[in-house]
Amino acid sequence: MAPKDIVYVNGAFVPRAEARVSVEDRGFVFGDGVYEVLRIINGRPFAARFHNERLRRSLEGIRISLAGKETPESLTEIGRHLLEENGLLQGEATMYMQVTRGAATRAHNFPPPEIQPTVYISVARFTPYSDLALNGASAITHPDLRWGRCDLKTLNLLPNILASQAAKERGTFEAMLIRDGVVTEGTKTNFFGVLDGTLRTHPCDDHILPGITRSILSELARELNVDLEETPIQASEIPLLSELFLSGTTTDVMPVVTLDNKPVGNGKPGEVTRKLQRVLAESLASGGD
Ligand SMILES: Cc1ncc(COP(=O)(O)O)c(C=O)c1O
Repeated sequence: MAPKDIVYVNGAFVPRAEARVSVEDRGFVFGDGVYEVLRIINGRPFAARFHNERLRRSLEGIRISLAGKETPESLTEIGRHLLEENGLLQGEATMYMQVTRGAATRAHNFPPPEIQPTVYISVARFTPYSDLALNGASAITHPDLRWGRCDLKTLNLLPNILASQAAKERGTFEAMLIRDGVVTEGTKTNFFGVLDGTLRTHPCDDHILPGITRSILSELARELNVDLEETPIQASEIPLLSELFLSGTTTDVMPVVTLDNKPVGNGKPGEVTRKLQRVLAESLASGGD
């Protein structure tokens, strides 16, 4: 029997193929909305509390209010129900939650207050990138052409999409974005590098998404007595990196062993990368946050 594929749209549980939103939805017309992606292990959303907090912050950041009694937590609960409905209580899955400013006649300013946000939630089977985690990935550098509020997880992902496609067309996994001479993050990941024995990553400000995995890794690094500095890596320091890795909800810790066709360090996943990869895997396996 084919697995069920039920999604949630505006109060209804429907087969994905029958799910509908209006052509006037502001998510469709303007990319006017926010989203979250959660990792699910054996039916349990990992670090749900942090994702809910970030969704709340993203909603406030673009001034969308959820309808009635809805909260990020209640949306995650709907997601849990979807996991059950779709037979995804065992193994790995992802949960996608999206909220837009709703459907209304096209106008740049906000719609009237009676217009309710559109809520869409779906779940899917997920297979981790085991080969790349083991052997390392390649990446390119690319200009960071995004706006000034990259800390909000909005649907406006065009610069990310174009940079990600550029990476793909060069046979690589990710684009390392560079703004004003510093490494900010990836198109869908945060970047960490080891320089002179110190782990470095961009601080949380308006130029990066405060990644949940980034934050969990910072805590794990502290517990392991790994020196971590939230000081951006300068583009000019890239040739000096002995290790480089990505972090993200679906990428975990992924070593980057080739950047712009040149080896990073000795061209193999480094020691700090491997340590953090191991402890994150343990944390995921224990379901803790
Ligand atoms: C631009 C960007 N940076 C970083 C991340 C990693 O964040 P998280 O660890 O919360 O998945 C993502 C995830 O989608 C992202 O889109």
